[in-house]
Amino acid sequence: MSHKTIEIGWKAPANIALIKYWGKREEQLPENGSLSITLDRSVTTTRISFREKINETDELSLEYYFHGQRHPAFEGKILKLLHRLKLEMPFISYYQMVITSENNFPHSAGIASSASSMAALALCLTSMEEQVSGSKMSKDDFYRRASGIARLGSGSASRSVYGGVVTWGEIPFMANSSDYFATPYPLKKQSRLHQIRDIILVVSTTEKPIPSSTGHAMMVDHPYREGRRVQAKSNLAKMTTAIEADNFRLIAEIAENEALSLHALLMTSLPAGLLLQPNTLGILAEIKLFRESTGMDLFFTIDAGPNVHLIYYEEQREQVVPFVQERLLPYCENGLWIDDKIGTGPLLITPEIVH
Ligand code: DP6
Repeated sequence: MSHKTIEIGWKAPANIALIKYWGKREEQLPENGSLSITLDRSVTTTRISFREKINETDELSLEYYFHGQRHPAFEGKILKLLHRLKLEMPFISYYQMVITSENNFPHSAGIASSASSMAALALCLTSMEEQVSGSKMSKDDFYRRASGIARLGSGSASRSVYGGVVTWGEIPFMANSSDYFATPYPLKKQSRLHQIRDIILVVSTTEKPIPSSTGHAMMVDHPYREGRRVQAKSNLAKMTTAIEADNFRLIAEIAENEALSLHALLMTSLPAGLLLQPNTLGILAEIKLFRESTGMDLFFTIDAGPNVHLIYYEEQREQVVPFVQERLLPYCENGLWIDDKIGTGPLLITPEIVH
């Protein structure tokens, strides 16, 4: 038996949903289909090093470091996922594992760090599976498996294993779509969405008072649950039509409707969740004014927090950046913003045999 230590590393990006996943059932299955754009620069880098255990216990053996420090809260989250995975990936019980992880964007900056971190971890575990079993999966099977595992860690993470535009959830008119894993959206070569950029306006870096998991749970008895399902379905169908037609105005209208609906659902939950802040609304009003006065193609979206994503085309960057600097940064915490764009997806750093 060999007891060498092998290290595998993956970089996985965050994503921003234009059609929001909100509400789930059973084992992390979504109540509705969602669609997101994978980001480029906001990434988590995760490395897993593993070595066969000397004594044969099937207790999980994990040390977890976040930015070089042990992090009991995150370690607990990962252990929970690994316990869930014991049936599907029995090999994890037979290895000592050390996982290190780093985000290159501020924690709680309004970018779902659980999406990039769970996607990076799932990719590491899937690569580890290939290494220990000695058999390589096809590319499609590999990413699909990683997406399903990422989903168990965090729903939105299922989408972060792919670049470009990605959907998750069974969608009647989309081949290969599933509630169990995400699917890359076949964006046309000439689609203008390849040029899309995202400026993240950080209104607050304070930890959000309502974790997404609590928000999803509030949908179970929500008075508008059925209405939300109907709305999401219709918005997703309209969104794909708009994407096919490169109709930015329609994409903008639906994405903004999704963002505001998400917050309306939060506000009408019991107990109510109010995550928008005065500065969030200030930014939305400025974006609307700017759009009306310039006629430019740009829109906002917001996740379950106060921070705003401003989505626009690369070709408008020269006008948009000065607008952001002059009009929007005063609403941001310490003027913090993140300059990102659509990205090509995760990257394998490299598997290494350490010793
Ligand atoms: C508002 O994926 O963070 O960002 O599955 O409980 O980890 P869990 O939730 P999470 O929810 C994300 C919700 C959202 C919308 C979206 O990304 O689709």
